[in-house]
Amino acid sequence: MIPIIGLMSGTSVDGIDASLVFTNGTKLDRTSFNSITPYREETQNFLKICNKNPKRFKEKKEQVARLTKLITNEHANVAKKLIKISGIKPELIGFHGQTIYHNPSNLVSIQLGDGKLLSKLLKTNVVFNFRSSDILNGGQGAPIAPIYHKYLIENLKIKLPAVIINIGGISNITYWDGENLLGFDTGPGNNLMDHYVQMILNKKFDKNGDLASLGTPNFAIVEEFLNQNYFNMVPPKSLDRTTFIKNNIYKKKF
Ligand SMILES: Nc1ncnc2c1ncn2[C@@H]1O[C@H](COP(=O)(O)OP(=O)(O)OP(=O)(O)O)[C@@H](O)[C@H]1O
Ligand SMILES: [Mg+2]
Repeated sequence: MIPIIGLMSGTSVDGIDASLVFTNGTKLDRTSFNSITPYREETQNFLKICNKNPKRFKEKKEQVARLTKLITNEHANVAKKLIKISGIKPELIGFHGQTIYHNPSNLVSIQLGDGKLLSKLLKTNVVFNFRSSDILNGGQGAPIAPIYHKYLIENLKIKLPAVIINIGGISNITYWDGENLLGFDTGPGNNLMDHYVQMILNKKFDKNGDLASLGTPNFAIVEEFLNQNYFNMVPPKSLDRTTFIKNNIYKKKF
C-alpha cells in the first residue's frame, strides 16, 4: 500500500476535504491526518460570481484561468499542511476539482483545478479529471462514491443487499448486493437549505439544523418538490448543484 492524499471539494462549495490514507486501490488504512478547510474569502467570492452563471463565466477565459489557479493553490496548501503535520510524502494525489457545471446528458461536467500545476506545486503525481473520463465512458460523472461505499459496506460487514446514502449539497445513494453496484443522485441534500439561508439570512448554512428545528414541515412545498420530473426518472441520473434551486419553488412561497 502507498501513501495517497485525496482532495475533495463538493457541490456545496463549502471548502476542501483532505485525507492522507494508505491504499492499493482495494484495501485502505486510514490515518489521523484528515482536514476540512473552508475556501478563503477571495476564492469563495469568486466562486459565488461563477456560480451565478457558470455558462457565461466559463466563456471568459481569463476569469476561468484566475479562478482555476486560486482553487489549485488552495488545494496545494491543504495538501502541504497534511504533508507537514504527518511527515509523510504521498506518492499520489487524487484531485477532484471544483464542479462549476454538470450536465451529463450533454456529456459536460466541468471541474476547475489544474492537475498539472498541482503536480508541479507538490512535486508528486496527481490523478484528476475523474468526472469527464467517467462521462466519456458512459457514466454520470461521479465514479468514486459507489466504489468507496461498496468498500465501506464490505469492510463493516453490513448484510447484503445494502445501501448507503450520502447527504452533502446533493444527496446520492449506493446500492450493492454482492453482484450489482448502482449509484445515483437521489435529489437535493443540504443545498436547498444552504441557498435559502444564504439568500434570506446571509448565513452560510443552518448549523445543526437549528433554524429548521424551530419550524414545521410545509408539506405543500415538499409535494411540489416531489412532483419534479427528476423523481420519476430511472437511474442512471445525476443532478447539477442548481437544478432544484433554479425552480425557485420556495422563492414563490415566501
Ligand atoms: N453542522 C452542520 N449543520 C448543518 N449542515 C451542515 C453542517 N455541516 C455541514 N453541513 C452541510 O453539509 C454540506 C457539506 O457536506 P459535504 O462536504 O459532505 O457535501 P458536499 O461539499 O456537497 O460534497 P459532495 O458533493 O461530496 O456531497 C453543506 O451543504 C453544509 O451546509
Ligand atoms: Mg464539502
